[in-house]
Amino acid sequence: MRIIRAKDYSDMSRKAAGIISAQVILKPDSVLGLATGGTPIGTYQRLIEMNKNGDVDFSNCRTVNLDEYAGLGPEDPQSYRSFMNENLFHHINIDMANTYVPDGKNIDSEGECRRYDGILKKMGTVDLQLLGIGVNGHIAFNEPAKSFSKGTQKVTLTQDTIESNKRFFEKAEDVPRYAYSMGIKSIFSAKRILLIAAGKEKAKILCRSFTGEIEPAVPASVLQMHSELIVIADKDAMSELINVAPELVENAH
Ligand code: PGA
Repeated sequence: MRIIRAKDYSDMSRKAAGIISAQVILKPDSVLGLATGGTPIGTYQRLIEMNKNGDVDFSNCRTVNLDEYAGLGPEDPQSYRSFMNENLFHHINIDMANTYVPDGKNIDSEGECRRYDGILKKMGTVDLQLLGIGVNGHIAFNEPAKSFSKGTQKVTLTQDTIESNKRFFEKAEDVPRYAYSMGIKSIFSAKRILLIAAGKEKAKILCRSFTGEIEPAVPASVLQMHSELIVIADKDAMSELINVAPELVENAH
């Protein structure tokens, strides 16, 4: 586990984009696991710039996204498919046919979970999985639970998550209550995981996830066991962890 402190959001984004672009330069046909939310937007902006400058070529990459709101179709502006199209895919030279997001409109939830797991299996190992972290420690939409999930599941969002995500909607009631989410076992099977976090509201959970017990009540804590985990967090998100375990932080100056 490597924990790297970034100066601020922009520095975190540059560092994360640097790692993703290095992955793609070294292995042009990489399978990238991608995330949505406020945190990766800056990383995606950097990747778009690098792609436009000719520094990184996504034409042979394939991507799988972590999750999607149940009930929202690809054309819905609040869907994660739309998020990915607008914040990354439509601005880089990726083949859209090689980008995968769960189908939120599939009302056969069992079938959708099986279908997405089938896609993941066909893809093979994810080379680099980008992750955010929820204020409750969720990764993808794997909320605190009694056990770690395995495959793709239809999950019920917790109140914490609805509260956090309402900023992307007009009002809290508009936030979907269910989502399709890749399971923890699938996420964990990536060769390398890059978790990014920014802002004071992530300080407590980041500290608990990487210095505390490994337990399904804190889903991100399982990542402590991953041999190729990189955490990049800005000063605010790192503020608690750096006090509790400065020895874990690489540039703890
Ligand atoms: P955020 O979400 O990037 O919008 O903070 C992270 C997450 O919930 O995984």
